[in-house]
Amino acid sequence: MNAPYTRFMAFVVFMLCSLLGNAQSNQNITDTINRKWWKEAVVYQVYPRSFKDNDGDGIGDLKGIISKLDYIKSLGVDVVWLNPIYSSPNDDNGYDVSDYRNIMKDFGTMDDFDALLKGMHARGIKLVMDLVVNHSSDEHEWFKQSRSSRNNQYREYYHWWNAEKGKPPYRYSLFDVNHDAWRYDSLSNAYYLHYFSRKQPDLNWENPKLRNEVYGIMKFWADKGIDGFRLDAFQFAAKDTTFPAFPKGFEKNFTQYYGMQGNLHGYLQEMDREVLSKYNVMSVAEGAGNTFEDAHNLVDADRNELNMAYAFEGVDIARPEGYSIIHLKQVFTKWDSAFAAKGWLSIFLANHDQARLVSRFGNDSPEFRAVSSKMLTTFLLTMRGTPYYYNGDELGMTNAGFSTINDYRDVQTLNEYQRQKNIGADLPAYLKLIAFESRDNARTPFQWNSTTNAGFTTGTPWIKVNPNYKSINAVAQEKDINSTLNYFRQMVKLRKDNLTLVYGKYTLLDAQNPDTYAYTRELNGKKLLVLLNFTNKTASAQTGMDLGNATVLISNYQKPSKNGTLMPYEAVVYEVK
Ligand code: GLC
Repeated sequence: MNAPYTRFMAFVVFMLCSLLGNAQSNQNITDTINRKWWKEAVVYQVYPRSFKDNDGDGIGDLKGIISKLDYIKSLGVDVVWLNPIYSSPNDDNGYDVSDYRNIMKDFGTMDDFDALLKGMHARGIKLVMDLVVNHSSDEHEWFKQSRSSRNNQYREYYHWWNAEKGKPPYRYSLFDVNHDAWRYDSLSNAYYLHYFSRKQPDLNWENPKLRNEVYGIMKFWADKGIDGFRLDAFQFAAKDTTFPAFPKGFEKNFTQYYGMQGNLHGYLQEMDREVLSKYNVMSVAEGAGNTFEDAHNLVDADRNELNMAYAFEGVDIARPEGYSIIHLKQVFTKWDSAFAAKGWLSIFLANHDQARLVSRFGNDSPEFRAVSSKMLTTFLLTMRGTPYYYNGDELGMTNAGFSTINDYRDVQTLNEYQRQKNIGADLPAYLKLIAFESRDNARTPFQWNSTTNAGFTTGTPWIKVNPNYKSINAVAQEKDINSTLNYFRQMVKLRKDNLTLVYGKYTLLDAQNPDTYAYTRELNGKKLLVLLNFTNKTASAQTGMDLGNATVLISNYQKPSKNGTLMPYEAVVYEVK
């Protein structure tokens, strides 16, 4: 037999074996894990107000998003989570809904929405919508009716406390100038409850009519073909409506006293029966209660409530003074082990309610911004759980760090500033704090290119563009093979190509190392090792593993470490033999 023929046959045999091998290992995977599309997805969060403005009014819109669908597709992500786009007077940027079946004027029309969904599906991208039903806007027709008189048929859609009973027991409000969640309304001589701003009255979930309205709204969007819901602030939906007084100091324990109360699980099971079980949609709750038990009760598959938990403990670690890497490791590790056998988690370190990923968890100095962004991206995409990645983080966008209150737009930041002023607090200190942690840091316009306003709008942007857009922008990064943008794409691909990164067992190594984070992911005989240096100095990870035969799958340095000694913010993923 001639040599080329032998080589050809050897190749055919090799391909057959590896195909059979793959089929075999996929079979094993399917046998041992409960595969779901939403577990294998990478979710990309689009903040519509700041993504892309099409009509030049300075506010992002649906047509703007449509014009950038090819960009989103190019990232390799499978799901877009879109912050609220419903009609709203915008007290809290759309989290105050005045009509759940309509589109906010600033954002466009229902035809634009239909085109957006079609454009996403044509590209194989799924759409998850924010469902904001712990509260509505005070401009919603239900509330207008509800407040009009005590006998109105919508009265019981909200929580009222008649003033002749005296002042209601104090409840803390997250966004109120006085931190007071009860607002007196003279029209009916009663107080209404609002855990968020005064313009966000809490809905009364004890009322079956209200619940049916919500299920109707969900069906309306699910019938349009959307692929999932993110349940905003839902752990607060059920309340103890006898409104007992809380023990002193309860404000600091907001989740404990307000979250996971009453018949929350009953409502979620009803929601599953009425809506979720009837569609191929995913569901994620914002928050996960106080304990692992709470979190499991929200998402364990046999309970028929939600699909995945979104726990805040990890994202809350970063403080202006820094954070402990050992602590970060402990938090992510304990959540992983609590969910190793049952339930499913979201993995994230940033969203529209936090300042920028690289500014909080990495290092946004010119020297380390790109490399530390890539390190954080490596982390987020190599953990077990569904990664949620916030728009702009793929560019390594940084905090705007505004120096004057006039540049801020966020209701929470502005009301808290007013409160600090009212109580005579140290305002420069507050300004310093919000420059680090205000939500507006993550809401500045997406930096598309180096032209005026970063190519976001031809008008005046609703919030200032971060001046660093001239150097940090998508167009510049497209051209650079080593950019954070292209690194993100490679990381997404690596996750997609390795089910081990989705389902594999996670094991923390070198737990007490204060500088580096090291862990393995293992599935069906395949073992990956992730080494991350979270500091701006050289640091080593003691894994006890011989990396001599390890294959580097990805790294944020040209010459990745082969011996566990990592350059500043170095990230490496190996396949270990
Ligand atoms: C959630 C949202 C946040 C909003 C709040 C009130 O926490 O993520 O943006 O302000 O709910 O709806």
